[in-house]
Amino acid sequence: MTDATHPYDALMDITARPPNVFVRGEGSFLWDDTGKRYLDFVQGWAVNCLGHSPPVLAEALAAQAKLLLTPSPAFYNAPSLKLAKALVDRSCFDRVFFTNSGAEANEGAIKLARKYGALHRNGAYEIITFEGGFHGRTLATMSASGKKAFEPLFEPKVSGFPKAQLNDLASVTRLITDKTIAVMLEPIQGEAGVWPASDQFLRDLRSLTEAHGLLLIVDEIQTGMGRTGKLFHYEHAGIEPDIMTLGKGIGGGVPLAALLATEAASCFEHGDQGGTFNGNPLMCAAGLAVLECVGKADFLKSVAETGLFLASELQRVSARHGLGDIRGNGLLLALDLTHPIAASIVAQALEDGVLINAPRPDTLRFMPALNVTREEIASMIDCLDAILTRMGAARRVA
Ligand SMILES: Cc1ncc(COP(=O)(O)O)c(C=O)c1O
Repeated sequence: MTDATHPYDALMDITARPPNVFVRGEGSFLWDDTGKRYLDFVQGWAVNCLGHSPPVLAEALAAQAKLLLTPSPAFYNAPSLKLAKALVDRSCFDRVFFTNSGAEANEGAIKLARKYGALHRNGAYEIITFEGGFHGRTLATMSASGKKAFEPLFEPKVSGFPKAQLNDLASVTRLITDKTIAVMLEPIQGEAGVWPASDQFLRDLRSLTEAHGLLLIVDEIQTGMGRTGKLFHYEHAGIEPDIMTLGKGIGGGVPLAALLATEAASCFEHGDQGGTFNGNPLMCAAGLAVLECVGKADFLKSVAETGLFLASELQRVSARHGLGDIRGNGLLLALDLTHPIAASIVAQALEDGVLINAPRPDTLRFMPALNVTREEIASMIDCLDAILTRMGAARRVA
């Protein structure tokens, strides 16, 4: 696929994309190069927590770009020190390592757990992960993921990731051996279709891992940074994990992610971990600007309230069209369509100028900006309602 204006073929063809080329964003809206406007409930896959190109982020980036882009990861820089301290102050963790992507943060979490096993548990290295889980696209994080489509790919996988079932403690207990060093999970499985671990399951996992001397790793790349109405999702369950990874929202749209650990779990020695762009001041300045907004108590309260509003509106649409449950928390929600009609809805919504995501053939996922307004939610709901009405009419005629 290519045309005179858009040399599509120069990019590796790694996924099916619509031909629209996006050129501008502001808040909940995106524009393509024909001037068409779209209401965006995807937001870069739950990345733009303050919406598209928020002025506070643009200003922080411009100011830092004029000051210092990168001194080298072998030297300290002020924004990374400040952001690490702010994250430590707001969480149960003591140390931070910044990365450029979520997968790299999770790769770091896996290495940290293996190092801990080497130092404290006779070389134990297995990390129990979950069916349906998604942790990234490096070889180790694909191996840690429980995504069926990954199974035949890029063999041989990295070994040492036995899979348990979410919300089934016995399935975790059965996998614990003297080779086990950690349990790792997403508090809400996002890519699998927004399947939450219950707060009780998270508490039981914390007790189980403590009883066996294992590390508990939460992958909060999708759920962290206010997405579910708390700064970090683990706070809902009242637990304190040993390791957490953050990504997506932490940079508000720029490539920033982080690996956080308690002092006891922070066992990297010099040479174990690093990377050219890790903790560069430009991205960390963005992270500071984001945290300053998202970390405020009234902002988090409004995320929780807006999430309840979106859930109740989705519930209304679901009841009206005979669809299934609403799952998720805060502004990470899914509508179970009960039939494989998600791709068709996404395509029609795109035509109608609304962007929605379908992580599964029968599931729609909603991950708007955390400052999305009720009017914007109402517009998206009207669009969805109209599409479902059309589809219902088409089904009746057929
Ligand atoms: C829970 C979770 N972990 C890890 C990742 C990988 O992050 P990245 O795409 O930044 O490597 C994602 C991305 O969707 C995610 O949702």
